[in-house]
Amino acid sequence: MELSFYVHIPYCVKRCGYCDFNTYTPAELQISDGLSQISNSYIDLVVAEIQQAKLSVGEATVPTIFFGGGTPSLMEPTDIAHVITEIKNSFKLSEDCEITLETNPDTVDKQKLAAFKNAGINRISIGMQSAVPHVLKTLDRTHNPQNLSQVTQWASEVGFKDISVDLIYGTPGESLADWQLSIDAALALPINHISAYALIVEEGTKLANAIKRGEIDNVDDDLTAEKYLLADQAFTAAGFNWYELSNWSKSGGQSNHNIAYWLNKNWWGVGPGAHSHLNGLRWWNVKHPNLYKTKILGNESPKLDQEILEPMQIESERLMLSIRLPSGISKDSLSIEQVKTLEPYLESGALDQHKWGAGSVSLSLTGRLIADRIVREILL
Ligand SMILES: C[S@@+](CC[C@H](N)C(=O)[O-])C[C@H]1O[C@@H](n2cnc3c(N)ncnc32)[C@H](O)[C@@H]1O
Ligand code: SF4
Repeated sequence: MELSFYVHIPYCVKRCGYCDFNTYTPAELQISDGLSQISNSYIDLVVAEIQQAKLSVGEATVPTIFFGGGTPSLMEPTDIAHVITEIKNSFKLSEDCEITLETNPDTVDKQKLAAFKNAGINRISIGMQSAVPHVLKTLDRTHNPQNLSQVTQWASEVGFKDISVDLIYGTPGESLADWQLSIDAALALPINHISAYALIVEEGTKLANAIKRGEIDNVDDDLTAEKYLLADQAFTAAGFNWYELSNWSKSGGQSNHNIAYWLNKNWWGVGPGAHSHLNGLRWWNVKHPNLYKTKILGNESPKLDQEILEPMQIESERLMLSIRLPSGISKDSLSIEQVKTLEPYLESGALDQHKWGAGSVSLSLTGRLIADRIVREILL
């Protein structure tokens, strides 16, 4: 059996104003000496959960490992190496095992990037978000946009072939020209993958509160849609093809880890709040790092709760995930009624005519803007 690993690193130096991920700052954890002491002791807990995974799963081949956060690049490279070695010793790494580290540009220099490479990391995903200072300010990001090209250059120089950047579009106050600048800046980097996400204003974040108080404008949905079209056009022209609604890559640059999620493969999520999926059983861990630590040190499973996926749920998720991919949904797997429901979308140009003729329900460029609406129509 194949089993991917997601390793959650729930720490950030500072919380960005838009982010509601399960991550904690020294201030929130009431740690006075910053995060420097955390790496080693946290990684011991991660290693213990991997041992629990081994006892539970037995033999498995690991095709991908993803260190996500939070800010995994805050960890010491020796600690990241320790985790990779533990997974390698407990399971079998596939020959071309993809091992990604999410990286905040403010947290690394060339030497640290080289050390991550030596530790076994072979793919770097860098949080760029925007190249425009006023947009980064609205997002309440700390990093200096100049660091970004420097860090990407270093990553390339120390030998990383697979480098990705994350972008956010639709930030209030971001004009089309601003977004074009960010696109151009990303495309000038030595990268082979781009994730571009529409900004989600998450309830309870600093950004959401500032919008509520009227200090920042709300997101303009029409402008955000225009930005998606602009991005797709520019990325495609530069040789980055979409392989999921929010992800573009050069040939061979796709993230196999993301693909494993979208195809509902098996993965074990290690760390506080991490989600796992194993043969139709899904579970998630306790959210807070302190409770997680108590569970692991007490030799208990950190699992908070679980669900067994019902056939209807599996089918709904299959539809929701596959519509986001260029291959789309096979028409043969749909009922006559579902196919009929989709016909108006074919007529309006939201579905790809050619692929429809070849038997699949695949979104056209304009259809990608209304993917959720289309899939809702055929949900059971
Ligand atoms: C959890 S972050 C990890 C990367 C790293 N911590 C960093 O920010 O540099 C993964 C990505 O999620 C995206 N993200 C987080 N919150 C978002 C939101 N509210 N709307 C859209 N994208 C978001 C950002 O693009 C971010 O790079
Ligand atoms: S966007 Fe990244 S750096 Fe910012 S708070 Fe979220 S996880 Fe941390």
